[in-house]
Parts: sequence; C-alpha cells; structure tokens
Amino acid sequence: MTGTGAHIIVFGNEKGGSGKTTAAMHIAVSLARMGKRVAAIDLDSRQRSLTRQLENRAAFKERSGADIAVPQSYVVARSNLKSLDEGAAEEARKFADILAEVETQNDCVIIDTPGSDTQLSRIGHAAADTLVTPMNDSFVDLDLLARIDPQSLEIQQPSVYSDFVWDCRKKRLMARKPALDWIVMRNRISSTDTRNKRRMSGVLDKLSERISFRVAPGFGERIIFRELFPHGLTMMDLPQKALGISLSMSHVAARQEVRELLQTLKLPGIGTKVG
Ligand SMILES: Nc1ncnc2c1ncn2[C@@H]1O[C@H](COP(=O)(O)OP(=O)(O)O)[C@@H](O)[C@H]1O
Ligand SMILES: [Mg+2]
Repeated sequence: MTGTGAHIIVFGNEKGGSGKTTAAMHIAVSLARMGKRVAAIDLDSRQRSLTRQLENRAAFKERSGADIAVPQSYVVARSNLKSLDEGAAEEARKFADILAEVETQNDCVIIDTPGSDTQLSRIGHAAADTLVTPMNDSFVDLDLLARIDPQSLEIQQPSVYSDFVWDCRKKRLMARKPALDWIVMRNRISSTDTRNKRRMSGVLDKLSERISFRVAPGFGERIIFRELFPHGLTMMDLPQKALGISLSMSHVAARQEVRELLQTLKLPGIGTKVG
C-alpha cells in the first residue's frame, strides 16, 4: 500500500478446517470497509470456499440492497495437463497473470490457499508479504509448526511447513524484498478450557522465538462464523436487517477479535485504530 503495488496477504497452512478462508474473508471485508481497494485470489480451486463466499455476498447484496463492499475475486484452477512440469508451469503462469493485473489496481491482495501441499499453495506462499497461519487451538494442530514432546512440552524440531516458510523467507531475502512477516493466529479458542489455553500460549511464545513468527490473539469458537457463511457475510457486516440478525454481546466480542487480528498484522497504511 505504498504506491509501488499491493500488499499481499496469504492465508496458509497445510491443514484443512483451521480457519484460513474464514480469516481471509474477514480481513478482506475489514479492509474494504476501510476504503482500501481489495482483490481476492482463491488458490483452493477444489473447494473454492472463498470464491463461493464472495459470490454469496454479491447475491446477498443484490437481493437485500445492503450497502456492503464486495471485493473482486479470482480463482486459479488446477491444471489438467498430464505432464506435471507443464501443469506446474501453466498454474504459475495463470497466477502470475492475475497477480500482475490486480497488484497495480489494488491496495491489498488476499490470497487463500488449500489445506495441503500443492503447487498452487507453494506459488501463493512465495508471493506473500504477510503470511497468516490460522491453527485450531489444540496441541494436535501444533505439529503443523513443530514436533513437541507431549510430556515436557519441549520443542523437538520444526515441522515441514515451518521449514517451507523458512525457504520462502530465504527466497525473499535473495530477491532483496522486505522480510516476510509471518503471523500465527489461534482459532476456535474455547471460552472454558483455560488449562489448554495457557499451555498453548506458553508453547507458542517459545516457538515464535525459535521459528520467527508473531502470535495473533485469534478468534473464539463461535457458531455465528458458520451461520454467516451462506450469505457471504462477516462479523463486520452485522447487524443486518434483511437477516433479522441484531448485534449480540458475543458478536461485539467477535468483531473486536477481527479488529485485533487486523491491528496485529500491522499492514502498511493501516493505523493502529482499526474501524
Ligand atoms: N472461530 C470459529 N468458530 C466457529 N466456527 C469456525 C471458526 N472458524 C472457522 N469456523 C468454521 O470451521 C469450518 C472451517 O473453516 P475454514 O475457514 O473453511 O477453514 P480452512 O479454510 O482452513 O479449511 C467452517 O465451517 C467455518 O465456518
Ligand atoms: Mg479454505
């Protein structure tokens, strides 16, 4: 957002169901509401969840007349070519074409990636200025980042995903680009299980120093995240008269979580007061 091209925010990890698409959608809408020009690129062409949410959002806008911003979205399909090399080249070319187009016309590009190690996921990660990795708030999901001794909670070694992010960092440095900013966000945090929360905080703090990421406070476990999906809406769009959804205390808390995530990202051109 410095006038030299859009800031690229990638949502990635190698696990499905950890909140990549939910977080991508909320950050995209928050930025659009702040008047930023936002485009979304969906690299999860099998599930297309982000694309569908944005389509649902456009349909909701049309139907209800609600005054909501709908970020432009693009999807890069997986190649059907038989040759792996040619397929990879085709995907890379398509992605590069879309990125070149949207980069010059937007302040931010939001990229959603699949929950597995695919060529498209790698291409997306390689483009990141900021990488956001959501993870469910459990020790089962921590092995996405590192192997942890279950008894002592000592860190044994980084995971393949952490090694991969390290590789992305090195490539950026070699290309003389600014350092990759990696943020790990906790998702579906339980409001009751305080012991698990505390233990997770301790391990994540240690890990963040060891493999260089920042920890975002993250989102609580809230049913409303699932309820809004069919309409392509986010917490930031509530209340919505057309849906008969008013603003509850839980929604207010959830919106605050989204704002805090955005603040933690420290995007260029976005102050610490996030609306
Ligand atoms: N904080 C949350 N509370 C409740 N449900 C959530 C939360 N975050 C995500 N979900 C739900 O979990 C499912 C998976 O989330 P999603 O964002 O699609 O994950 P991913 O893109 O990583 O596969 C979706 O049904 C979503 O609505
Ligand atoms: Mg997804």
